[in-house]
Amino acid sequence: MANKRKIRNRLFLAGLACVLVVGGVFAFRKLTQKPTDPRSQVEIKLSEQGYPEEVIRTILPLSSDKINYLLAQDYDVQRTNLILDPYATLANLDRYMAYTQAHPEDSVDTVVLMVNINRDYPFYTHTSEVSDPDNLLVIVNKYYGLPKTYEPDDLVDIEAAYNGRTDGMKVTVRKAAADAFYAMNDALKQQTGMVVKTTTAFRDYAFQNNLYTFYTAAYGQEKADLESARPGFSEHQTGLAMDINANGDIIDDFMYSQQYQWVKDHAHEFGFIIRYQESLTEITGYKKEEWHLRYVGIEHATAIFNQSISLEEYVMRLNSGVSQ
Ligand code: DAL
Ligand code: ZN
Repeated sequence: MANKRKIRNRLFLAGLACVLVVGGVFAFRKLTQKPTDPRSQVEIKLSEQGYPEEVIRTILPLSSDKINYLLAQDYDVQRTNLILDPYATLANLDRYMAYTQAHPEDSVDTVVLMVNINRDYPFYTHTSEVSDPDNLLVIVNKYYGLPKTYEPDDLVDIEAAYNGRTDGMKVTVRKAAADAFYAMNDALKQQTGMVVKTTTAFRDYAFQNNLYTFYTAAYGQEKADLESARPGFSEHQTGLAMDINANGDIIDDFMYSQQYQWVKDHAHEFGFIIRYQESLTEITGYKKEEWHLRYVGIEHATAIFNQSISLEEYVMRLNSGVSQ
């Protein structure tokens, strides 16, 4: 009996010792453990490199490429602000930096836009040929030209009633733009009793060459470049641009007409934008042309109109993949 009690006591003591040892180890670990940092490795690393907490918060949603780039260097306000712009690309970073240096007064948005559309390069330098001339959103400007022989294959003649030429020449334009032009005129007529006519729409390379040669001979190249595209670089060669006039007036007077008052507010409802505006000269390189409509389709024209931006900026944003 006494033996049994002895064994029970020993077992009890051994159990107690076990509990004390395990509890002690557990308590020791608890006491010596550092509190866990709730921040991710990326946040910790950025913080170590001098990025302020509020900046880190704006960096975290960026693409992993951009985050890795920033992780690789110490905090630099200018570089970081540029990378944080939603339309900025790492490939253009050096150009953004150079553009900022040359235009310290420009905002980050402007710097990124200008570089993304090549405006850090002088006009007609760094030109390339467009690969999709039939695309309704094609950009043809002082950086992107068309193949010399390009001619759209869906050109149609403008009906005589809307042909505003006085020399009897035909005016041709792409079918989608012609249909939109007639629809716009129907609405204009219904609402104001008036119509607009077109004096020139599709122009081939040779036609544009003559025109540009005429302008340069008359005004010199610098002035000519503000009004006329060099051959191969005119939107008219896409067959999507139309110069319009009112009452047979010359196009320069279109801005004074009642038709213009209506067209500037409604052209987008039919798929046209007024492509060259005073506020956009820095981007387009052309003086304002109230008469020059460009067909892009109703959805895009409406978005461009609502945002009051250039076609260049619109397409840049669209191609960036950033949701609009
Ligand atoms: N006048 C426009 C810019 C052109 O020549 O295409
Ligand atoms: Zn034009």
